[in-house]
Amino acid sequence: MTEKNNYHSQSSLMRSLLKRKNPDEMMADAEKGGLEKTLGVWDLIILGVGAIIGSGIFAIVGVAAATPGTGAGPALMVSMVIAAIACVFSALCYSEFSSMIPVAGGAYIYTFATLGEFAAWMVGWILMLEYAIGYIAVACAWSNHFMQFLNGFKSVLPACITNPPIWLVSDFRSAGEYLTSQGISPESVIPHFAGIPVCINLPAFVIVAIITMILIKGTKDSTKMAAIMVVVKLGVIALFVIAGAFYVKPENWVPFAPNGFQGLFMGAFIIFFAYIGFDALATAAEECKNPQKDLPIGIIGSLLVTTVVYVLVALVLTGVMKTNGAPVPQEFLKAPMAYIMEMVGQNWVAGLISVGSLAGLTSVLLVLQLAATRILYAMSRDNFLPSIFQKLHPKFNTPHILTWVVGIICMIGTLTLDLNVASELCNFGTFTSFIIVCVAVLILRKIDPDRPRPFKVPFSPWFPLAGIILCTGLIIFSMVIKHSLSALLFPVWVIVGIAIYACYGYKKNRRLEQNDILEEIEKNERKITTK
Ligand code: ALA
Repeated sequence: MTEKNNYHSQSSLMRSLLKRKNPDEMMADAEKGGLEKTLGVWDLIILGVGAIIGSGIFAIVGVAAATPGTGAGPALMVSMVIAAIACVFSALCYSEFSSMIPVAGGAYIYTFATLGEFAAWMVGWILMLEYAIGYIAVACAWSNHFMQFLNGFKSVLPACITNPPIWLVSDFRSAGEYLTSQGISPESVIPHFAGIPVCINLPAFVIVAIITMILIKGTKDSTKMAAIMVVVKLGVIALFVIAGAFYVKPENWVPFAPNGFQGLFMGAFIIFFAYIGFDALATAAEECKNPQKDLPIGIIGSLLVTTVVYVLVALVLTGVMKTNGAPVPQEFLKAPMAYIMEMVGQNWVAGLISVGSLAGLTSVLLVLQLAATRILYAMSRDNFLPSIFQKLHPKFNTPHILTWVVGIICMIGTLTLDLNVASELCNFGTFTSFIIVCVAVLILRKIDPDRPRPFKVPFSPWFPLAGIILCTGLIIFSMVIKHSLSALLFPVWVIVGIAIYACYGYKKNRRLEQNDILEEIEKNERKITTK
């Protein structure tokens, strides 16, 4: 008897964990939701480029190329192509899903339709690494570029603004590393409160607060703003490539790969961050005029545009600066393009690049926080998170409480996480969500083969399998080669996610199911009595 009970409770646990959402119901709900359908293919490409081009190319590219011992060196351009290929397979899978189930929520929704409740929660939670922790990385890069921009005005502005104490413009780790590299003891500079060293990344704090307020006011203006910023950032990148081309010395490309294959693949893992964002397009599916056709073109198109831009930047960057393994200045690692232009005496180009990168990073911040908020909103609608997060602002009709919660968590994050740890952690999360989307495409083809697929991944199952293998390979490779803090934090994030689901989401959903069943019984009883 006990064995039978055990079997029943185990099978009902499995049933709950694997409970799927019906894609048709999701689409019907989305229709009722009535989001305005305003986005065409060009809007999508602009949004995609707005989300993709940011701190990866404006900051992390220096780390990927020139970190002593693991940098890719001039082979960075090959690393970029490897990272792009890993993205293309997943992008095709995203395109199949987004054209088949064009509802807001992206990978979270696709997982709910194929792998069930538990996997959907985990994907939503892991997507927070991409959108919220990635947001922290971009906010840190924004702060570095802003300080560099102010530095350009050192002859007219007071020193307390252009050169403030490091603990006021940096996270704890970066401040410690910088002071140590200068031979200064961090203890002697960083203030302590109640024995705890305190660093506040003030520029990052302020930009996060501003973006949060813009998003609360509404997304219509923010997409317009993103379009202007895309033009500005593409303009300054073009300027860098054209101006920099005159200073390229082909001998700087030798040796091509100073750290061999290890550097090449580590470079691909690190620079992968620069491609993150195209998947955010899928979260805007409900707002597309013709999602079936436009979304795949928008996703693949923005990925192609950025790959071409990145390879050109890598060619010039490694052609002007020696990245053959010798130590490079900290400034190069923080803002490589502007640093190089200063190095060759093109100060006005460096200044324009600083302004353009600030615009570029701001557009990425807008898209990432918007995507984080949308996904958490969908998760709260599915009872994984408290319903207070669904509260809309009385005037602007946006989820203001949730937007502030995301903003405040990210502000706290900028106190402790630096650009590199946050971007690597974000990479782990994004690779994992890409793998799950590739797996989900294969599963849905098996369990629901007749569902209309306006766009189909070609050469299935080989292309989704290639995506799974490439993404898994890069995760494992980076964990084996570089025992970084992010590789430790990633499993911790996953375990915390499982714990929250077990203690909150699972229980709440079962309680609600119980209530639904009781309501159903009561309704039936009432029907019988009235008869
Ligand atoms: N791809 C985005 C960036 O590079 C996240 O900032």
